[in-house]
Amino acid sequence: MSISRTASPAGHLATRPFPQDFLFGAATAAYQIEGAAFEDGRTASIWDHFARTPGAVINADNGDVACDHYHRYREDVALMKDLGLQTYRFSTSWSRVRPDGGAVNRAGVDFYHRLVDELLDADILPWLTLHHWDMPQALEEAGGWTNRDVVERFTEYALTMHDALGDRVKVWTTLNEPWCSSFLSYTAGVHAPGRQSVTDGLLAAHHLMLGHGTVVDELRSRDEGLDLGITLNLTVADPVDSGNEADLDAARRIDGQFNRWFLDPIFRGAYPQDVLEDLRRVDPRAVDALEEATQDGDLATISTRIDALGVNYYHGELVGAEAPEEAPPGGDASTDRPTSSPFPSHEGIHWHDRGLSRTGMHWEVQPEGLTRLLQRVSGEYSAPAGVVLYVTENGAAYDDERVEEDGASRVHDAERVEFVRAHLNAVLEAREAGVDVRGYFYWSLLDNYEWAWGYEKRFGIVYVDYATQERLVKDSGLEYRHIISERAI
Ligand code: NOJ
Repeated sequence: MSISRTASPAGHLATRPFPQDFLFGAATAAYQIEGAAFEDGRTASIWDHFARTPGAVINADNGDVACDHYHRYREDVALMKDLGLQTYRFSTSWSRVRPDGGAVNRAGVDFYHRLVDELLDADILPWLTLHHWDMPQALEEAGGWTNRDVVERFTEYALTMHDALGDRVKVWTTLNEPWCSSFLSYTAGVHAPGRQSVTDGLLAAHHLMLGHGTVVDELRSRDEGLDLGITLNLTVADPVDSGNEADLDAARRIDGQFNRWFLDPIFRGAYPQDVLEDLRRVDPRAVDALEEATQDGDLATISTRIDALGVNYYHGELVGAEAPEEAPPGGDASTDRPTSSPFPSHEGIHWHDRGLSRTGMHWEVQPEGLTRLLQRVSGEYSAPAGVVLYVTENGAAYDDERVEEDGASRVHDAERVEFVRAHLNAVLEAREAGVDVRGYFYWSLLDNYEWAWGYEKRFGIVYVDYATQERLVKDSGLEYRHIISERAI
């Protein structure tokens, strides 16, 4: 491949090409961008409800309007085309399509017809996620993900989406980050529905994964040609002192909960024994409840064959058994792990600082962690199963400011430019080391509703002026466009 010698907007000359089959994309999620929260028959999701709970979200922000993407999707797809995106990862809103988890709402489904047609007209591959956290509130009132019946409701909703779009959408992700929609949401209470119970977190995680497996089986039986998968938020846990048993054990426990709790059942059909033992020591009743809820065949369903595994990577963890002399910037929040760990077996684990630069979330910028993570996941799980990897999310929030220069508006987000470049390089490193990783999605296309952080954190490569809904491509967006057009970095 010939690499052009035109410098990128940030002044870099490309030297490393991406393979021909590598896809460049960007990602969003329904509740974070759509708005139109109560239009055309949509009813409340758990996030509409949670956002109205005093103290749950910064500034009591909600997704009623968000980026108004429901009305501006044409403009947004035009923006994607202008950036040169090959694929767009979005999620569909369960409460728009099946309000209250009940009958199909045609008007809601129609929005996704329009969106998908617009994407295909722009030559952008639609990559659809069915569950990006916004379950109908009515289902939560019937027990939410702790109630096994929800698996059936989720399957009905998935089949509705497939009835509507199966002729045009070929890539389907069942769940986005089930760790968040179980432990962060049902045990730590930091996300909707805000429950705080170890048992509920374990049951929610089990039923989410059962929903995943059931939907994969159903979709597969309808169409062998679909590309089916799940997206997990995975991490790299390093001990502060690799010669210290207690620090090694802290890293093992973090790896167990974030990575292996999901990877093992999906790829090996079993929960990791060591994590079960940790849990049994601290909350035996929660493990009993999980065992009672697990029926014959569940793990076979959960471990059904998938085609693609989505890896969401933001940062790793440096952990130890002793508290550091100085807490890392942002305290435990600097790891996006809730201060009160959702896993009781994590008591006594402390996060340490590596002295790396940090994003606006206080997350460490640690691109080499992504290379190691992809190598590890591929070596131990995906490659032996013949499953392809994609980085379905990676990105950074910074305090972006819009400036007026020579009559034009700009956002000079130099840190994000370097963040994207460094992580794309890390992906190439993994690929060159033999990992079958076939794409990268920047999170996010647009600044949007960052869950419990409201609109305070901006992750976009496109700036959104929430007062006017004006979109403005940031310097990082211009750089990404250049990288995509060169297919090299
Ligand atoms: C993971 C989630 O999937 C997404 O919704 C969120 O906005 C980003 N990480 C950034 O925190």
